[in-house]
Amino acid sequence: MKMENPQVSIIVPTYNESQNIIDILKSIRRCIPDGFSTETIVVDDNSPDGTGKIVEEYISNLKKFTENKISIIHRKAKKGLASAILNGIQSAKADTIVVMDSDFSHPPHIIPKLVSAIKQYQYDIAIASRYVKGGTVEGWSLKRKIISKGATLIARKSLGVTSNDPMSGFFAFRKNLIKGLSFDAIGYKILLELLVKTKGVKIQEIPYTFQDRKFGSSKLDSGTIIDYVESVLKLYRYGKAAEKQERRPSVRFFSKAARFFTVGASGLLVNYLVSLLFADGISNLWYIHATSIGIIASMTTNFVLNKVWTFGDRDFSPAKTLKQYGKFIAFSSLGALLQLGLVYYFVDVHGISYPISLVAAVGLAAFGNFVLNKKWTFKEKLWN
Ligand code: GDD
Ligand code: MN
Repeated sequence: MKMENPQVSIIVPTYNESQNIIDILKSIRRCIPDGFSTETIVVDDNSPDGTGKIVEEYISNLKKFTENKISIIHRKAKKGLASAILNGIQSAKADTIVVMDSDFSHPPHIIPKLVSAIKQYQYDIAIASRYVKGGTVEGWSLKRKIISKGATLIARKSLGVTSNDPMSGFFAFRKNLIKGLSFDAIGYKILLELLVKTKGVKIQEIPYTFQDRKFGSSKLDSGTIIDYVESVLKLYRYGKAAEKQERRPSVRFFSKAARFFTVGASGLLVNYLVSLLFADGISNLWYIHATSIGIIASMTTNFVLNKVWTFGDRDFSPAKTLKQYGKFIAFSSLGALLQLGLVYYFVDVHGISYPISLVAAVGLAAFGNFVLNKKWTFKEKLWN
């Protein structure tokens, strides 16, 4: 009989799962649709409770030529969930890979849905999600819920991943997606790393109910949280480096414009706070003087932030910096004049209402300001 590659590889990491592993393997098999060839790869870290031996024994009693093979990778010691999964992936032979826990928190009847998302509907990653409509968690303490939601929020906000459940341990993906990528595989969060490193691919989320395990205990501990922080920092840096390599000029142009506008908005706040501070905080200046100080302060913070953050210019040699600062202030003043002129033009010449005119004028002036500073203050090509 000719051995062909299986169509799906299912990775099941285990550490001390002697009470769960055989039942989950059986349950996985029952959920595989007829006519599908699979391999299930258990990755065990030399579990003290003998999980590895139990699986060996189970495998040796299975029929040899079956459409649904089971194999086991023995690792010498507990080296962490993410790295166990990565080991499994490296030895997987199928083009579609499913990753899931062995403790029945991840219901196997979801597997066919994950697989068809990839094989039939051509998604690149399919995530079994607790946090989309129809999904939920059962049996978790409030503390665990808060940690999970907090970690999810951090991932979405700081790493810009779009999935609602980037912390899921239950997902499927197309294997060729990870060709050429290297993984840190720190702690628990292999999916998060995959999402950050493959941004822009097609993702589907499939709702499911996460059920807390009945046997054994979670291996998640405070060390996992430290691992999490470490991996978020690493992935954040990875994202920044990838951004620098972004070659499409339109993306670079507009992401810089967005930063420039963000800095502008922060300047309004600085302006307001500093003016108030001088008008009746640390001193009782005449309000015109206080406002002037506020304006100067905000122009200065705007300048520094735009130099460092928007345009990534770290060269603070005095002569150059002073020259840039002068230009920046000149353009800002020009921008203010432009804004005045535009408001007048919209309201008086065109009879457009003041609020709308104001928004349009501020937007146009800020954009003009951005273009001038990009080209003349920070000496970048307009469209590079
Ligand atoms: N080989 C190996 N090595 N397996 C491990 C290790 C390890 O160091 N640590 C955990 N496992 C296995 C467990 O035996 C189990 O099958 C699976 O990985 C998940 O471990 P649990 O300890 O049960 O994790 P959990 O239930 O707290 O967390 C689950 O839910 C999280 C969602 O909030 C996991 O699926 C996480 O990946 C997921 O983020
Ligand atoms: Mn679990």
